[in-house]
Amino acid sequence: MLSEVLLVSAPGKVILHGEHAVVHGKVALAVALNLRTFLRLQPHSSGKVDLSLPNIGIKRSWDVARLQLLDTSFLAPEALSPTCVCLFACETEQGDVTAPTPEQVEKLKEVAGLPDDCAVTKRLAVLTFLYLYLSIFRKQRTLPSLDVVVWSELPPGAGLGSSAAYSVCLAAALLTVCEEIPNPLKDGEHINRWTKEDLELINKWAFQGERVIHGNPSGVDNAVSTWGGALRYQQGKIASLKRPPALQILLTNTRVPRSTKALVAGVRNRLLKFPEIVAPLLTSIDAISLECERVLGEMGEAPALEQYHVLEELIDMNQHHLNALGVGHASLDQLCQVTRAHGLHSKLTGAGGGGCGITLLKPDLGRGGTRPEESRSEHFCSSMQ
Ligand code: MEV
Repeated sequence: MLSEVLLVSAPGKVILHGEHAVVHGKVALAVALNLRTFLRLQPHSSGKVDLSLPNIGIKRSWDVARLQLLDTSFLAPEALSPTCVCLFACETEQGDVTAPTPEQVEKLKEVAGLPDDCAVTKRLAVLTFLYLYLSIFRKQRTLPSLDVVVWSELPPGAGLGSSAAYSVCLAAALLTVCEEIPNPLKDGEHINRWTKEDLELINKWAFQGERVIHGNPSGVDNAVSTWGGALRYQQGKIASLKRPPALQILLTNTRVPRSTKALVAGVRNRLLKFPEIVAPLLTSIDAISLECERVLGEMGEAPALEQYHVLEELIDMNQHHLNALGVGHASLDQLCQVTRAHGLHSKLTGAGGGGCGITLLKPDLGRGGTRPEESRSEHFCSSMQ
């Protein structure tokens, strides 16, 4: 078991195209963001597991012995399916981890001991930690005493993958503690990196964390947070984008809060209600992602203005589709109008309903080219390579 302090970090993400459609098996294109979440883990022998999340005002401590007891008390054999021999996460024959059941999440709530009026963001962050802690250490005879602090540069609930980066950090750190993956900084060897297999395991567990938070996510957010770079994601298949150009993207946080889970459910309901109308929208978004991937691949190091124009048209068409799916918001319409007045094109990114929008900056505009002054929005400039 690890004895030294461990520091890990994971990036947030921006979805260029394919949000929501990706939940229904379509392609999404996503890039890692230069805003990160950081985790510091200190093993100790106090008999406690401490979690501190300063960004959202969480400081909790649990007695390891009590957790151990509660853990075993949940092991009601009749509650387990024939292939299920563990408490929370169960490995299938393919080595996949099955989703946490609503009953397991309910049990976690009891273990967490949070007050009834605890805000949803806080509650889900704590439940995700407990879920990953109890599941990843399920094979250990004794649960470890740990002090875990997680902080972030990412605004929560804004569509920039803060929950995925949180889950990736937790999965990576906890898997390192129980030596499922090596400590890359062991013995002062700072150049070691996790292997593809290690990253796959981190991604698999991070996906479980995302499932606690979002219910039925596609997995794109944790994939990009685990692997970094620019990638194409479809039904668990991850591929790096070939030779992506260095695009400048303005990120605008409308600061309008929203729930990814509710927005994803809203799209599902609309698809069920109007399959003939909504399914073609999802197919069209898929085609937009593929066309964007093709154009990005052709742009190379010296992109032509004409190629920027194609990217802009794709942004406009997708934004209209996302509005038709019901995930737009007046604040995002305003972003599109204001940037349009400056000759720029924007769309929502992530779940929508507020959250963040992206605006493609043409090369001559550079950093901070357009800033709508009279708004309560927050801006970041990000580059995609
Ligand atoms: C959220 O960042 C992206 C969505 O497509 C949800 C998902 O992929 O799980 C809205």
